[in-house]
Amino acid sequence: MFETNFSLLPYNTFHMDVRAEYFARFGSVENLRELLDAFHQGSAGNAGQRMVLGGGSNVLFTGNLPGLVLKNEIRGIQWDGEDNDYVYLKAGAGESWHGFVMHCLNHDLAGVENLALIPGNVGASPMQNIGAYGVEVRDVFHALDAVDWETGEIHSFGLSDCAFGYRESVFKQQYRNRFIITSVTYRLLKKPQFHIAYGAIQHELEKMQVKDLTIQAVARAVMNIRQSKLPDPAVIGNAGSFFKNPEIDKDTFDRLKSKFPDMVGYPVSGDRIKLAAGWLIEHSGPEPGKSWKGYRLGDAGCHEKQALVLVNYGHASGTEIRDLSLRISGSVKDTFGVDLQPEVNII
Ligand code: FAD
Ligand code: EPU
Repeated sequence: MFETNFSLLPYNTFHMDVRAEYFARFGSVENLRELLDAFHQGSAGNAGQRMVLGGGSNVLFTGNLPGLVLKNEIRGIQWDGEDNDYVYLKAGAGESWHGFVMHCLNHDLAGVENLALIPGNVGASPMQNIGAYGVEVRDVFHALDAVDWETGEIHSFGLSDCAFGYRESVFKQQYRNRFIITSVTYRLLKKPQFHIAYGAIQHELEKMQVKDLTIQAVARAVMNIRQSKLPDPAVIGNAGSFFKNPEIDKDTFDRLKSKFPDMVGYPVSGDRIKLAAGWLIEHSGPEPGKSWKGYRLGDAGCHEKQALVLVNYGHASGTEIRDLSLRISGSVKDTFGVDLQPEVNII
C-alpha cells in the first residue's frame, strides 16, 4: 500500500532529491480513506510527519521526510449547476490548475483567464489563494470538500469559511495540515468581466494587436508575460515568488520613498502599501554595490530576470536555497528595515 524510501525528485519543481519514508497516491476519496485507515493503524510506521502533495510547485524540501507523503491524483471536471450569471464547475483536487483554466477557456467560461499558466494543482489553489495579474482564486471560489486527516470525515467549506487573504487561507493557519482537499467548486462567469488594469497586460494586448477583447486573448497575454520573465521549472528549479510582497503603513512608505525615490509600492486597503519585494531584493545585495539579482552561489541563485524568484541551477540542496533566502531577507531588513516572509512552504 505504501512505498518506502521514495524519491520525491520528480514531484517538486525546485528539483530537490529528497526521500519520503512512506509514499502513496490516491485517485478517489474512498482510496484516500483506506490509506488514512492504514496510516492510523500503523502500516506506515509511526510516521509523525504527514503531508499531502499536489504539483510540488510551492514547496522547498530541506531534507528527507521521516513520515508519510500522499500524492493527490483525484481527477475530473464536472458541471455542478448554473444560474443566470454563473456556471459552477467541480474539479478534482488532482487536476492540473492550468488544465482547468484551459477547460474554462474552451467552454467560454470567464474568471480564471488571468490565472493561466500558474503551475500546480486545483487542490492547492485555495491553500494560498493563488493570484496573479489582479485576480485571486477567492474571486471565483464557491466551495470545497476536504477529508480530515484524523477522522477521515468529509467537511465542506464555503467562501466565508476559508478566511482568504493575500496568499493566505484558513488551511495555512488554524487548519494547517488538518485537511486534505479533495475537490474544489468554482463559480465561472457566463459573461466576462475583464481585469486588464495591470499595465503589463495592456501593453501585451497592444503588442498582440488585439481588437476584440476575449478571455482567450487575456489568457494569451498573461501567458506571454509569464513566459518572458518567469523561469520554466522544467528547465530551472524554482517555486515562483519565494517571498510575499510585504505590506507596510503609508507613513513608513513615505519615509522610505524620500530616501529611495524609485521604490515600488501599490496602495492596498486602508492606508497600507504593498511593496514590490522584487525591487527590494534587486536594490540590496551580498556586498555594497552588488545586487542579489542574478547572484549565484554554487547552484543556488536569485533569478536574473525576476529577483523575487530563487532558483536551483542543478544540484543545490534545500538548505542552500533556504540559507540564501535568509541572507537575502537579512540584507533587505538591513537596507530598508522591511521584513520579508517566505511564500514558499519550507519543509
Ligand atoms: P504543492 O506545492 O504540492 O503544495 C503546496 C502546499 O499546499 C503544501 O503545503 C501542501 O501540503 C498543500 N497542499 C497541496 N495540495 C493539497 C490538498 N489537496 N489539500 C491540502 N493541502 C494541499 N502562485 C501564485 O499564487 N501566483 C503565481 O503567479 C504563481 N506563479 C508561479 C510560477 C512558477 C514558475 C512556480 C514554480 C510557482 C508559482 N506559484 C504561483 C506557486 C504555485 O504554483 C502555487 O502555490 C500552486 O497553487 C501550488 O500548487 P501545487 O499543487 O504545486 O502545491
Ligand atoms: N521588480 C523589480 N525587480 C525585479 C522584479 C520586480 O524591481 O527583479 C519590481 C518591478 O517594478 C515590477 C514590480 O516589482 O513592476 C512587480 O513585479 P511583477 O509584476 O513581476 O510581480 P511580483 O510582485 O514580483 C507578483 C506575485 C506573482 C504574480 C505576479 C503577477 C507575489 C509574491 N508574487 O509578483 O506570483 O504572478 O505578481 O501578478 O505576490 C507567485 O506567487 O509565486 C507568483 C509568481
